[in-house]
Amino acid sequence: MSELRFDNQTVVVTGAGGGLGKAYALFFASRGANVVVNDLGGSFKGEGNSTKAADVVVNEIKAAGGKAVPNYDSVENGERIIDTAIQAFGRIDILLNNAGILRDVSFKNMKDDDWDLIIKVHVKGAYKCARAAWPHFRKQKYGRIINTASAAGLFGSFGQCNYSAAKLSQVGFTETLAKEGYKYNIMANVIAPIAASRMTATVMPPELLENLKPDWVVPLVAVLVHPSNKQETGSIFEVGGGHIAKLRWERAKGALLKTDDTLTPGAILKKWDQVNDFSQPEYPTGPADFMTLLEEAMKMGSNDKGENIDLKGKVALI
Ligand code: NAI
Repeated sequence: MSELRFDNQTVVVTGAGGGLGKAYALFFASRGANVVVNDLGGSFKGEGNSTKAADVVVNEIKAAGGKAVPNYDSVENGERIIDTAIQAFGRIDILLNNAGILRDVSFKNMKDDDWDLIIKVHVKGAYKCARAAWPHFRKQKYGRIINTASAAGLFGSFGQCNYSAAKLSQVGFTETLAKEGYKYNIMANVIAPIAASRMTATVMPPELLENLKPDWVVPLVAVLVHPSNKQETGSIFEVGGGHIAKLRWERAKGALLKTDDTLTPGAILKKWDQVNDFSQPEYPTGPADFMTLLEEAMKMGSNDKGENIDLKGKVALI
């Protein structure tokens, strides 16, 4: 099988001065892409800034014969980062929203600054970069986006309430971009990576980090953003240490209660086992799936005639 190439494509990698971002940047450049190496160059807590982080990676790419330009803006100024791509290479094809920081502290001690800075970098940053890339993607009917979640966001993690909230936001964000982008051949996926970096060096032992090379996250990202991927979109992947797995929502069988004055807390408690029964799970992928349930509920509830109620398509969002 021939290798996946990215010739003539422009990849923007945010936070590409180190860790996962650097691994992405080096890889895509080695596969023929033009790379915008964005990095603010601050500390892992989001303090300070420097041009060095991005410059080192750009120099490494150029020394290996690749094409790259630096950008030193914070991701909250996404339009400047995308503009760097347009100015230098005339196009943007792939956006890897990767930049990130940590402000770990127990919820009891969390300050507004810890919350706001995390939301600004992870949520607003990813939004601003995608928002600036979007018109180009639509116009050229081609675009690929990777957003970065985290196990901390999917499952919660002690001392990371701000980060967890920001990281899970990337799932909803990505799933909607996937839905809105599909007809324009814009594929958006979200990864929850695990890899050795200056970020994880603060929370994991060296023996473990040895087995979590950033390079092992890169190939999945390459598959998802390659032009040959025309279907995989709106998906969540865990990736790290050589393990790759898709995640999805699972809905329990659930309880159906009559929507009249018998719908009391006590009635719910009586059906609590059904609420929690995962023996016949469903895997919903959109609001329309919920509408099917609602139709059933309405048949047995206020609409006593059991008429065929069609809600799908009438309700865009819940
Ligand atoms: P890292 O700290 O090595 O790299 C993050 C890069 O983002 C740094 O070079 C930093 O200077 C840059 N950056 C920070 N704020 C920025 C801003 N406002 N604008 C532009 N650049 C900025 O960390 P790592 O581990 O490579 O993380 C990459 C992404 O993966 C992050 O979004 C992180 O939250 C996520 N992640 C990483 C995990 C891991 O195991 N390494 C686990 C789960 C998620």
